[in-house]
This record gives sequence, structure tokens and C-alpha cells, in this order.
Amino acid sequence: MLFQNYGSRELTIVRGQGVWLYDEQGRDYLDMTAGIAVTSLGHAHPRLVEAISHQAATLLHCSNLYQIPQQEEVAKKLIEFSGLDAAFFCNSGAEANEAALKLARRYASTQHAEKTILLSLPGAFHGRTYGALSVTPKPAYQEGFGPLLPDCHTPTSFEEVLSSVNSDTAACIVEVIQGEGGVQPVPHEFLQELQKRLKAVHALLIVDEVQTGIGRTGDWFAFRSAGLDPDIVTLAKGLGGGVPVGAVLAKQEVAKTFTAGSHGTTFGGNPLAMSAAKTVLEEIEKGNLLEQVRRVGDKVRQFLEEHFTQVSGQGLMWGFTISEDARNFVKNAQEVAGVLMTAVGENRIRVVPPLILEEEDVDEFAKRIYTIL
Ligand SMILES: Cc1ncc(COP(=O)(O)O)c(C=O)c1O
Repeated sequence: MLFQNYGSRELTIVRGQGVWLYDEQGRDYLDMTAGIAVTSLGHAHPRLVEAISHQAATLLHCSNLYQIPQQEEVAKKLIEFSGLDAAFFCNSGAEANEAALKLARRYASTQHAEKTILLSLPGAFHGRTYGALSVTPKPAYQEGFGPLLPDCHTPTSFEEVLSSVNSDTAACIVEVIQGEGGVQPVPHEFLQELQKRLKAVHALLIVDEVQTGIGRTGDWFAFRSAGLDPDIVTLAKGLGGGVPVGAVLAKQEVAKTFTAGSHGTTFGGNPLAMSAAKTVLEEIEKGNLLEQVRRVGDKVRQFLEEHFTQVSGQGLMWGFTISEDARNFVKNAQEVAGVLMTAVGENRIRVVPPLILEEEDVDEFAKRIYTIL
């Protein structure tokens, strides 16, 4: 048997093509979830299939004992798009955040001793490993796992976050749009003020772009439209298009504090994962997908605003509020309308479709959703 940590899962998906998924009976589902904001190029994308098949037949894995030239190629692109200076590759979002928190503490210890406090925002989600969990202030996720990592503080309001920044602060980790928190955009003015206060005490700003990064919001990174200049950025989800890969980007001054042997991973950045990430980045660029995400995302927003309340998000990342139980709505959408969405709160629904979604898919989405309204 399996651990029961995912509760009951009724649907078995056996195949995918583009923005469509199919179950064992061959029934189709419009995928407005993308494996929780992961399959950025949709399913069975021919170039992604070709790239990873070719890489699998050439070299799957060799470990970071050896040079992996594909890491340099992916890093070069991520550096170009982000303006940061260096990249480290790992396997998931939690692992990227774990590395970011370690990097921030390490930087603080070498630059400004005794600065150990890691701040996070109310409503945040950063993952399930101990460090990431310690900056994820959700009682249901933390319950029974204590003691958590020391010196992790999550004030109860954004104002209190600002007033908590002091000379003991090593870093603050933020999402520009809180995805698991209900697709709630964090006000840009607050983030900019936070950045100012962190800079003043030589503390780092870590932007968790695990969900928002790599085109999801219609830009390579959400921090750019928020006018931020982060010291560390974390990535995962959409970067590999479905192949597990995470990344940490950092400014040179910060990155260099991870000296040889201070951090590492067996699988991180292996040739298979890098071939996927490289293809995803190339396809987003070549297909002008950032523009498409903004255009098609606007159509999704318009439809949602006509039928639901508190619609918020950006690009192809939207949340909305309904009057009924969110889990029932999701079940109904799946079983009756053949649309896959997720609940992110008792009355809150999230749509994060593949970035290749087109206008006609939004028409189909609308047609199917009408059947359950
Ligand atoms: C903003 C954010 N950070 C971190 C994570 C954790 O990523 P993973 O599940 O790959 O560990 C998630 C996952 O939903 C996320 O949305």
C-alpha cells in the first residue's frame, strides 16, 4: 500500500496531448491545472519528447562529480532572463528553497555574524522540507512536526513583517503572488518597502518563483513586474515542463558563499533534467509564449470576472471565489464538465493551465464551465 498523505485520489490519468488529458476510459479533460503549474508546454510536446528521448539514449545521469555542460547552457539563459549572476540546480521547489535559506544563513555568517533570523509572510507556502516548512506558516502543515528550524519568524500581518526587519535579520522569503495561499498577489508597494528595509540592514530578499516563474505570469519572472531586485530567486515547477528540476539563482556576492563542498545534490541538474529545462526555455522564447500567456490569460480573467468574485492573479495564474465548497466545485468540474482545476481554500479555486493554452481553449473552458453553473 501507499502512504495515505494524499488522501483519496479517484481519477487515473493515463495519457496527455497538448492541453488535454485522458483517463482509462478515454474520457477527455481540459487541463486547467498542468500538474500544479508544471507542464508549461502541455503534454507530449514533440520537441520536449524528442529532447529528453535523445538525452535518455545518450546520457541520463553522471552526478555532479563531473562537468555537465547542459547546466552552463541553462544557467546562461536563466541569468540572461533574470539579471542574477549564478545558478545552482536541484530537483524540486522545496529543495530550491531549502538551498536558498541555507545560502542566506551562510552569507550572513560570513558577512555579518549573528544574523540568523529568516522572515516569511503570512499566507506563504514554500514547501514541505524542514527549512521550507519552517517558513510556511500553515498550522495544518506544521502540526506534529516540531521543533521546526529555529529563528524562523512569520509575523501575522505585512505591516509587522516590515517592523520585524532588524540587524538580526538574515533574509526574508516572499512570493510575489501567493499561489497555494489562494492566488493572492502581494502588494508591490509593500514588497518594494520590504526590499528597502532589508537592504538597509544587509539582509537578503529571496523571491520564491517556484510557481510564478518561467512565464507563468506572462513574464519570465513575477519579480520583474513587481519592480524588485532580489538577491536570490528560487525556481522549479514549470522549468522542467514535467521533468523534476529546481534551481536557485543568486547575485555573485551571495552565490560565492557556497564554496566547494558546502552544498550539493546527487541528481540536481543531471543531463536529463537540463535537456528538459533547456527545451522549455527555448520553446517559450521561440513561440513568443510570454505574449501569448498575457493575451490568453486576459481572456481567462474576463470569463472568470463575469461569473465569479475576487478574481486575482496574472498571466495564466488565476484564483477566484465561489459560494459553494471548493472541493465540491472541483469534483463537479472534473466529473460533469471534464475540466481539471484545484481548490486553494474553502471557497477558492485556482487555474494554472499549460502556457500553450490558446483562445479557442478558453472558449472550450467557458462552454464546459457553463454546464455546471
Ligand atoms: C511558491 C512555492 N514554493 C515552493 C513549493 C514547493 O515545491 P515542491 O512541491 O516542488 O517541493 C511550491 C509548491 O506548490 C510553491 O507553490
